[in-house]
Amino acid sequence: MSFLTLQNIQKSFGPVQVVHNFDMAIEKGEFVSFLGPSGCGKTTILRMIAGFEKPSGGTLTIAGKDQRPLKPNQRNIGMVFQAYALFPNMTVHDNVAFGLKVAGKAKAEIDARVKEMLALIRLDHLADRFPYQMSGGQQQRVALARALAVKPQLLLLDEPLSALDAKIRVSLREEIRLIQQKLGITTVFVTHDQEEALSISDRIVVMNAGKADQIGTPFEIYNAPATRFVASFVGTLNIIEAKVVDPAANRVSIGNQDVTLKQPLTGFKAGDTVSLALRPEAGSLAQSAPGDTALTGKVVSAHFLGSVIRTRMDVGGVTISFDMFNSPGTTPPQAGDIVTLRFQAADLLLIRD
Ligand SMILES: Nc1ncnc2c1ncn2[C@@H]1O[C@H](COP(=O)(O)OP(=O)(O)OP(=O)(O)O)[C@@H](O)[C@H]1O
Ligand SMILES: [Mg+2]
Repeated sequence: MSFLTLQNIQKSFGPVQVVHNFDMAIEKGEFVSFLGPSGCGKTTILRMIAGFEKPSGGTLTIAGKDQRPLKPNQRNIGMVFQAYALFPNMTVHDNVAFGLKVAGKAKAEIDARVKEMLALIRLDHLADRFPYQMSGGQQQRVALARALAVKPQLLLLDEPLSALDAKIRVSLREEIRLIQQKLGITTVFVTHDQEEALSISDRIVVMNAGKADQIGTPFEIYNAPATRFVASFVGTLNIIEAKVVDPAANRVSIGNQDVTLKQPLTGFKAGDTVSLALRPEAGSLAQSAPGDTALTGKVVSAHFLGSVIRTRMDVGGVTISFDMFNSPGTTPPQAGDIVTLRFQAADLLLIRD
Protein backbone atom coordinates (compact mmCIF):
# COMPACT_ATOMS: atom_id res chain seq x y z
CA MET A 1 0.00 0.00 0.00
CA SER A 2 1.17 3.50 -0.78
CA PHE A 3 2.42 5.69 2.06
CA LEU A 4 0.01 8.60 1.56
CA THR A 5 -3.32 7.95 -0.12
CA LEU A 6 -6.10 10.36 -0.99
CA GLN A 7 -9.18 8.63 -2.34
CA ASN A 8 -12.09 10.44 -3.89
CA ILE A 9 -11.34 13.52 -1.76
CA GLN A 10 -13.89 16.32 -2.06
CA LYS A 11 -14.01 19.75 -0.47
CA SER A 12 -16.74 22.33 -0.51
CA PHE A 13 -16.82 25.70 1.20
CA GLY A 14 -20.53 26.37 1.63
CA PRO A 15 -22.16 25.75 -1.75
CA VAL A 16 -18.90 25.98 -3.69
CA GLN A 17 -17.03 22.77 -4.39
CA VAL A 18 -13.32 23.53 -4.79
CA VAL A 19 -11.88 19.97 -4.84
CA HIS A 20 -13.50 17.24 -6.94
CA ASN A 21 -12.85 13.48 -6.67
CA PHE A 22 -9.16 13.88 -6.03
CA ASP A 23 -7.22 10.59 -6.09
CA MET A 24 -3.53 10.28 -5.40
CA ALA A 25 -1.20 7.64 -4.00
CA ILE A 26 2.27 8.73 -2.94
CA GLU A 27 5.06 6.27 -2.14
CA LYS A 28 7.38 6.50 0.83
CA GLY A 29 10.33 8.78 0.09
CA GLU A 30 8.71 10.24 -3.00
CA PHE A 31 8.83 13.97 -3.89
CA VAL A 32 5.52 14.95 -5.48
CA SER A 33 4.63 18.44 -6.70
CA PHE A 34 1.14 19.86 -7.07
CA LEU A 35 1.32 22.23 -10.01
CA GLY A 36 -1.55 24.45 -11.05
CA PRO A 37 -2.78 28.02 -11.42
CA SER A 38 -3.95 30.21 -8.56
CA GLY A 39 -7.21 29.05 -6.98
CA CYS A 40 -7.14 25.46 -8.33
CA GLY A 41 -7.17 23.96 -4.82
CA LYS A 42 -3.50 23.16 -4.10
CA THR A 43 -3.39 24.73 -0.63
CA THR A 44 -6.79 23.31 0.23
CA ILE A 45 -5.58 19.75 -0.44
CA LEU A 46 -2.40 20.38 1.53
CA ARG A 47 -4.42 21.71 4.45
CA MET A 48 -6.63 18.61 4.37
CA ILE A 49 -3.55 16.37 4.49
CA ALA A 50 -2.23 18.40 7.44
CA GLY A 51 -5.59 18.31 9.21
CA PHE A 52 -6.40 22.04 9.12
CA GLU A 53 -9.40 21.41 6.87
CA LYS A 54 -11.85 18.52 6.96
CA PRO A 55 -12.59 16.81 3.63
CA SER A 56 -16.29 16.95 2.69
CA GLY A 57 -15.91 13.40 1.37
CA GLY A 58 -13.34 10.70 0.63
CA THR A 59 -10.61 8.97 2.60
CA LEU A 60 -7.11 9.97 3.58
CA THR A 61 -4.50 7.57 4.98
CA ILE A 62 -0.84 7.83 5.99
CA ALA A 63 1.06 4.55 6.45
CA GLY A 64 -2.25 2.70 6.27
CA LYS A 65 -3.82 4.75 9.04
CA ASP A 66 -7.02 6.76 8.56
CA GLN A 67 -6.09 10.40 9.29
CA ARG A 68 -9.58 11.86 9.40
CA PRO A 69 -10.15 11.45 13.15
CA LEU A 70 -6.71 12.91 13.95
CA LYS A 71 -5.99 16.54 14.86
CA PRO A 72 -3.09 18.33 13.07
CA ASN A 73 -0.73 17.83 16.02
CA GLN A 74 -1.44 14.09 16.04
CA ARG A 75 -0.40 13.58 12.42
CA ASN A 76 3.35 14.15 12.76
CA ILE A 77 3.59 16.32 9.66
CA GLY A 78 6.06 19.15 9.02
CA MET A 79 4.91 22.20 7.08
CA VAL A 80 6.59 25.17 5.43
CA PHE A 81 4.56 28.03 4.02
CA GLN A 82 5.09 30.75 1.46
CA ALA A 83 5.35 33.59 3.97
CA TYR A 84 8.15 33.28 6.45
CA ALA A 85 6.20 31.99 9.43
CA LEU A 86 9.09 32.08 11.88
CA PHE A 87 8.46 33.37 15.38
CA PRO A 88 9.85 36.92 15.13
CA ASN A 89 10.77 37.21 18.81
CA MET A 90 12.79 33.98 18.91
CA THR A 91 16.32 33.28 17.74
CA VAL A 92 17.05 30.79 14.98
CA HIS A 93 17.98 28.21 17.61
CA ASP A 94 14.73 28.70 19.51
CA ASN A 95 12.64 28.61 16.34
CA VAL A 96 14.11 25.26 15.35
CA ALA A 97 13.82 23.99 18.94
CA PHE A 98 10.18 24.99 19.26
CA GLY A 99 8.49 21.72 18.25
CA LEU A 100 10.91 19.66 20.31
CA LYS A 101 10.20 21.82 23.39
CA VAL A 102 6.46 21.40 22.91
CA ALA A 103 7.05 17.64 22.67
CA GLY A 104 8.77 17.82 26.09
CA LYS A 105 12.24 16.69 24.97
CA ALA A 106 15.22 17.14 27.34
CA LYS A 107 17.45 20.18 26.81
CA ALA A 108 20.53 18.16 25.80
CA GLU A 109 18.55 16.26 23.19
CA ILE A 110 17.01 19.48 21.87
CA ASP A 111 20.37 21.22 21.58
CA ALA A 112 21.91 18.27 19.74
CA ARG A 113 19.01 18.04 17.31
CA VAL A 114 18.98 21.81 16.63
CA LYS A 115 22.70 21.66 15.92
CA GLU A 116 22.19 18.80 13.51
CA MET A 117 19.37 20.65 11.72
CA LEU A 118 21.31 23.92 11.42
CA ALA A 119 24.26 21.98 9.99
CA LEU A 120 21.89 20.39 7.47
CA ILE A 121 20.78 23.83 6.20
CA ARG A 122 24.32 25.24 6.55
CA LEU A 123 23.30 27.98 9.01
CA ASP A 124 25.05 26.73 12.16
CA HIS A 125 26.83 30.09 12.45
CA LEU A 126 23.55 32.04 12.68
CA ALA A 127 21.93 30.21 15.63
CA ASP A 128 21.67 33.39 17.73
CA ARG A 129 20.21 35.65 15.04
CA PHE A 130 16.61 36.80 14.99
CA PRO A 131 14.51 36.40 11.82
CA TYR A 132 14.66 40.13 10.97
CA GLN A 133 18.46 39.85 10.81
CA MET A 134 18.34 37.33 7.97
CA SER A 135 17.55 37.25 4.26
CA GLY A 136 14.35 35.69 2.95
CA GLY A 137 16.23 32.65 1.67
CA GLN A 138 17.90 32.11 5.05
CA GLN A 139 14.56 32.45 6.81
CA GLN A 140 13.00 29.80 4.59
CA ARG A 141 15.90 27.45 5.32
CA VAL A 142 15.24 27.95 9.04
CA ALA A 143 11.54 27.28 8.46
CA LEU A 144 12.55 24.03 6.74
CA ALA A 145 14.84 23.08 9.63
CA ARG A 146 12.07 23.83 12.09
CA ALA A 147 9.64 21.60 10.19
CA LEU A 148 12.16 18.75 9.99
CA ALA A 149 13.43 18.96 13.59
CA VAL A 150 10.58 16.88 15.00
CA LYS A 151 11.27 14.05 12.49
CA PRO A 152 7.91 14.28 10.74
CA GLN A 153 6.67 11.32 8.69
CA LEU A 154 5.62 13.69 5.92
CA LEU A 155 6.79 17.13 4.76
CA LEU A 156 4.37 19.60 3.16
CA LEU A 157 5.75 22.68 1.40
CA ASP A 158 3.30 25.33 0.20
CA GLU A 159 5.03 27.59 -2.35
CA PRO A 160 8.02 27.99 -0.03
CA LEU A 161 10.09 29.77 -2.69
CA SER A 162 7.62 32.14 -4.27
CA ALA A 163 8.58 35.19 -2.22
CA LEU A 164 12.28 34.87 -3.08
CA ASP A 165 14.15 36.33 -6.01
CA ALA A 166 14.86 34.16 -9.06
CA LYS A 167 18.46 33.20 -8.29
CA ILE A 168 17.84 32.21 -4.66
CA ARG A 169 14.74 30.30 -5.76
CA VAL A 170 16.80 28.06 -8.02
CA SER A 171 19.54 27.37 -5.48
CA LEU A 172 17.10 26.77 -2.64
CA ARG A 173 14.94 24.38 -4.61
CA GLU A 174 18.02 22.29 -5.34
CA GLU A 175 18.93 22.40 -1.67
CA ILE A 176 15.43 21.31 -0.65
CA ARG A 177 15.62 18.37 -3.07
CA LEU A 178 19.05 17.33 -1.74
CA ILE A 179 17.91 17.47 1.88
CA GLN A 180 14.73 15.57 1.01
CA GLN A 181 16.74 12.81 -0.67
CA LYS A 182 19.28 12.68 2.14
CA LEU A 183 16.54 12.21 4.73
CA GLY A 184 14.34 10.09 2.45
CA ILE A 185 11.31 12.04 3.65
CA THR A 186 8.06 11.81 1.71
CA THR A 187 7.31 15.33 0.48
CA VAL A 188 4.44 17.17 -1.16
CA PHE A 189 5.49 20.47 -2.73
CA VAL A 190 3.01 23.04 -4.01
CA THR A 191 3.96 25.45 -6.76
CA HIS A 192 2.54 27.31 -9.73
CA ASP A 193 5.97 27.48 -11.36
CA GLN A 194 6.27 24.75 -13.99
CA GLU A 195 10.04 24.87 -14.21
CA GLU A 196 10.31 24.42 -10.45
CA ALA A 197 8.03 21.38 -10.54
CA LEU A 198 9.78 19.86 -13.55
CA SER A 199 13.23 20.27 -12.07
CA ILE A 200 12.86 18.71 -8.62
CA SER A 201 9.94 16.26 -8.59
CA ASP A 202 9.71 12.50 -8.85
CA ARG A 203 6.15 13.01 -9.99
CA ILE A 204 3.91 16.00 -10.74
CA VAL A 205 0.17 16.35 -10.30
CA VAL A 206 -1.11 18.99 -12.73
CA MET A 207 -4.21 20.47 -11.16
CA ASN A 208 -7.01 22.24 -12.98
CA ALA A 209 -10.04 23.67 -11.14
CA GLY A 210 -9.98 21.24 -8.19
CA LYS A 211 -9.18 18.16 -10.26
CA ALA A 212 -6.00 16.32 -11.19
CA ASP A 213 -5.69 16.60 -14.99
CA GLN A 214 -2.59 14.43 -15.15
CA ILE A 215 -0.22 12.66 -12.77
CA GLY A 216 3.16 11.61 -14.09
CA THR A 217 6.92 12.03 -14.06
CA PRO A 218 8.24 15.41 -15.25
CA PHE A 219 9.27 13.72 -18.50
CA GLU A 220 5.78 12.31 -19.09
CA ILE A 221 4.03 15.55 -18.19
CA TYR A 222 6.21 17.64 -20.48
CA ASN A 223 6.49 15.26 -23.43
CA ALA A 224 3.07 13.63 -23.40
CA PRO A 225 0.56 16.11 -21.96
CA ALA A 226 -2.77 14.35 -21.51
CA THR A 227 -5.02 17.37 -21.97
CA ARG A 228 -5.02 20.77 -23.59
CA PHE A 229 -4.79 22.34 -20.15
CA VAL A 230 -1.64 20.39 -19.23
CA ALA A 231 -0.14 21.12 -22.63
CA SER A 232 -0.67 24.85 -22.31
CA PHE A 233 0.22 25.13 -18.62
CA VAL A 234 3.45 23.15 -18.76
CA GLY A 235 5.78 24.88 -21.16
CA THR A 236 5.29 27.45 -23.88
CA LEU A 237 3.73 25.35 -26.49
CA ASN A 238 2.03 25.87 -29.83
CA ILE A 239 -1.57 24.75 -29.95
CA ILE A 240 -2.29 24.49 -33.66
CA GLU A 241 -5.76 24.15 -35.15
CA ALA A 242 -5.55 21.83 -38.15
CA LYS A 243 -8.10 20.42 -40.61
CA VAL A 244 -8.37 16.69 -41.22
CA VAL A 245 -7.67 15.95 -44.90
CA ASP A 246 -7.51 12.14 -45.02
CA PRO A 247 -8.12 10.36 -41.69
CA ALA A 248 -7.04 6.94 -43.03
CA ALA A 249 -3.62 8.34 -43.97
CA ASN A 250 -3.31 10.57 -40.84
CA ARG A 251 -3.17 13.61 -43.13
CA VAL A 252 -4.09 17.05 -41.84
CA SER A 253 -3.59 20.54 -43.19
CA ILE A 254 -1.98 23.33 -41.20
CA GLY A 255 -2.70 26.67 -42.83
CA ASN A 256 -1.92 26.01 -46.49
CA GLN A 257 0.24 22.89 -46.05
CA ASP A 258 -0.47 19.20 -45.47
CA VAL A 259 1.42 17.07 -42.98
CA THR A 260 1.18 13.44 -41.86
CA LEU A 261 0.76 12.73 -38.16
CA LYS A 262 2.28 9.82 -36.32
CA GLN A 263 -0.83 9.31 -34.22
CA PRO A 264 -3.90 7.73 -35.82
CA LEU A 265 -6.89 9.98 -36.48
CA THR A 266 -9.42 7.37 -35.35
CA GLY A 267 -12.85 8.86 -34.84
CA PHE A 268 -12.25 11.90 -37.09
CA LYS A 269 -13.51 12.50 -40.60
CA ALA A 270 -12.29 14.71 -43.43
CA GLY A 271 -13.06 18.37 -42.68
CA ASP A 272 -12.97 17.99 -38.86
CA THR A 273 -10.86 20.43 -36.88
CA VAL A 274 -8.22 18.92 -34.59
CA SER A 275 -5.85 20.53 -32.08
CA LEU A 276 -2.18 19.71 -32.29
CA ALA A 277 0.57 20.56 -29.83
CA LEU A 278 4.09 21.37 -30.96
CA ARG A 279 6.92 22.26 -28.59
CA PRO A 280 8.82 25.37 -29.69
CA GLU A 281 12.10 23.50 -29.25
CA ALA A 282 11.01 20.51 -31.37
CA GLY A 283 11.91 21.96 -34.75
CA SER A 284 14.96 23.37 -36.44
CA LEU A 285 15.85 25.23 -39.62
CA ALA A 286 18.55 22.68 -40.47
CA GLN A 287 18.89 20.95 -43.84
CA SER A 288 16.20 18.41 -44.56
CA ALA A 289 16.76 14.83 -43.41
CA PRO A 290 14.84 11.69 -44.39
CA GLY A 291 11.58 11.33 -42.48
CA ASP A 292 11.31 15.02 -41.59
CA THR A 293 8.05 16.84 -41.48
CA ALA A 294 8.33 20.40 -42.72
CA LEU A 295 6.34 23.63 -42.64
CA THR A 296 7.36 26.65 -44.66
CA GLY A 297 6.31 30.13 -43.62
CA LYS A 298 7.21 33.78 -43.29
CA VAL A 299 8.98 35.01 -40.16
CA VAL A 300 6.77 37.47 -38.27
CA SER A 301 9.13 38.25 -35.42
CA ALA A 302 12.34 37.03 -33.81
CA HIS A 303 13.06 37.81 -30.16
CA PHE A 304 16.47 37.33 -28.65
CA LEU A 305 15.99 35.83 -25.15
CA GLY A 306 19.62 35.02 -24.35
CA SER A 307 20.10 31.30 -24.72
CA VAL A 308 17.37 31.02 -27.34
CA ILE A 309 15.87 33.10 -30.13
CA ARG A 310 12.09 32.76 -30.06
CA THR A 311 10.80 33.11 -33.58
CA ARG A 312 7.21 33.34 -34.81
CA MET A 313 6.28 32.42 -38.32
CA ASP A 314 3.10 32.51 -40.33
CA VAL A 315 2.07 29.32 -42.15
CA GLY A 316 -0.89 30.26 -44.33
CA GLY A 317 -2.60 32.16 -41.49
CA VAL A 318 -1.48 29.86 -38.65
CA THR A 319 1.17 31.28 -36.31
CA ILE A 320 3.83 28.90 -35.03
CA SER A 321 6.53 29.74 -32.49
CA PHE A 322 9.85 27.98 -32.42
CA ASP A 323 13.07 28.35 -30.49
CA MET A 324 16.56 28.29 -31.92
CA PHE A 325 19.59 28.02 -29.69
CA ASN A 326 21.73 31.11 -29.69
CA SER A 327 25.04 30.64 -31.41
CA PRO A 328 27.36 33.56 -32.12
CA GLY A 329 28.34 31.97 -35.45
CA THR A 330 24.91 31.99 -37.10
CA THR A 331 22.61 34.82 -38.12
CA PRO A 332 19.15 34.50 -36.57
CA PRO A 333 16.12 34.74 -38.88
CA GLN A 334 14.71 38.21 -39.56
CA ALA A 335 11.11 39.31 -39.95
CA GLY A 336 10.08 38.76 -43.58
CA ASP A 337 12.42 35.79 -44.20
CA ILE A 338 10.88 32.66 -45.67
CA VAL A 339 12.00 29.70 -43.57
CA THR A 340 11.30 25.97 -43.42
CA LEU A 341 10.85 24.47 -39.99
CA ARG A 342 11.64 20.75 -39.84
CA PHE A 343 10.66 18.36 -37.08
CA GLN A 344 9.64 14.74 -36.55
CA ALA A 345 6.04 13.70 -37.22
CA ALA A 346 5.85 12.37 -33.64
CA ASP A 347 6.49 15.91 -32.34
CA LEU A 348 3.03 16.95 -33.53
CA LEU A 349 0.83 15.67 -30.72
CA LEU A 350 -2.88 15.23 -31.22
CA ILE A 351 -4.78 16.63 -28.20
CA ARG A 352 -8.00 14.78 -27.49
CA ASP A 353 -10.28 16.56 -25.02
N1 LIG B 1 -11.77 28.94 3.94
C1 LIG B 1 -12.28 29.13 2.72
N2 LIG B 1 -13.55 29.55 2.54
C2 LIG B 1 -14.09 29.71 1.31
N3 LIG B 1 -13.41 29.49 0.17
C3 LIG B 1 -12.12 29.09 0.27
C4 LIG B 1 -11.49 28.89 1.54
N4 LIG B 1 -10.21 28.47 1.32
C5 LIG B 1 -10.07 28.43 -0.02
N5 LIG B 1 -11.21 28.79 -0.66
C6 LIG B 1 -11.43 28.83 -2.12
O1 LIG B 1 -11.06 27.58 -2.64
C7 LIG B 1 -10.42 27.72 -3.91
C8 LIG B 1 -9.06 27.04 -3.86
O2 LIG B 1 -8.21 27.77 -3.00
P1 LIG B 1 -6.71 27.32 -2.70
O3 LIG B 1 -6.18 28.23 -1.67
O4 LIG B 1 -6.67 25.87 -2.40
O5 LIG B 1 -6.01 27.60 -4.10
P2 LIG B 1 -4.48 27.46 -4.52
O6 LIG B 1 -4.43 26.50 -5.64
O7 LIG B 1 -3.65 27.17 -3.33
O8 LIG B 1 -4.16 28.91 -5.08
P3 LIG B 1 -2.84 29.84 -4.93
O9 LIG B 1 -1.88 29.35 -5.99
O10 LIG B 1 -3.34 31.20 -5.25
O11 LIG B 1 -2.33 29.70 -3.55
C9 LIG B 1 -10.35 29.22 -4.17
O12 LIG B 1 -11.42 29.55 -5.03
C10 LIG B 1 -10.52 29.83 -2.81
O13 LIG B 1 -11.14 31.09 -2.91
MG1 LIG C 1 -2.17 28.23 -2.29
